[in-house]
Amino acid sequence: MLEVKDLHVYYGGIHALQGISISVPEGSVVTLLGANGAGKTTTLRTIMGLVRPRVGEITYRGKPIVGLRTSRIVRMGIVMCPEGRRIFPDLTVWENLLMGCYARTDPEIERDLEWVFSLFPRLKERRRQAGGTLSGGEQQMLAVARALMAKPTLLLLDEPSLGLAPVLITELYNAFRQIHQEGRTILLVEQNARAALSIAEYGYVLETGRIVAEGPKDELVSSDLVRKAYLGIG
Ligand SMILES: Nc1ncnc2c1ncn2[C@@H]1O[C@H](COP(=O)(O)OP(=O)(O)OP(=O)(O)O)[C@@H](O)[C@H]1O
Ligand SMILES: [Mg+2]
Repeated sequence: MLEVKDLHVYYGGIHALQGISISVPEGSVVTLLGANGAGKTTTLRTIMGLVRPRVGEITYRGKPIVGLRTSRIVRMGIVMCPEGRRIFPDLTVWENLLMGCYARTDPEIERDLEWVFSLFPRLKERRRQAGGTLSGGEQQMLAVARALMAKPTLLLLDEPSLGLAPVLITELYNAFRQIHQEGRTILLVEQNARAALSIAEYGYVLETGRIVAEGPKDELVSSDLVRKAYLGIG
């Protein structure tokens, strides 16, 4: 579904991505693991057309997307839930959700609202509350729900578990499982390998702009690199 080939991104003189290639098959959950500054967010922003690569190709369902406007990429079905939530604090939960679908004209908006409220019942209870008054975990749910309102076929999630208590991470990941079961493909960026590998079938490990390991979940879980650096084992 999504093929990223030999991506090179520079910020001025900083060579942030040094030849990244990843593949996300339709219907899969794929994870991109890496420590701070590895280039995870840059990879997602490049896919979204927010950063222009100097070298490399990105194709979505066989079509090249490098150089397309972000709004066009979103309409093609790729939607990102950004790092740090970025919800609108002064808008209500309900208004935040409407911001996610402002570009849609199809008749299924009501149905999708019901769907995200069924995924995140806390949001339904708090729909008239300002986004900024929600707890961190609820704000993350809102950010995911807002992304879903843009009708993604491929959902990009940037460190959704960051800063959340374990019980909230479990709740959020249960929602990701349902989103996946309802047919969405997910590219999940995390530093929390344990959480990510609980749902991803395939993963990549990124270090200072390069892929240093990749493989099916079971291989990664048993690899020394992932066990030491990301699972704190051994
Ligand atoms: N707008 C920018 N201008 C200059 N350098 C940047 C910019 N954004 C990122 N970088 C640099 O690019 C590298 C990769 O950053 P990126 O944000 O992609 O990493 P990350 O893996 O998402 O890290 P984190 O886990 O901290 O979110 C870092 O060295 C960072 O300092
Ligand atoms: Mg990041």
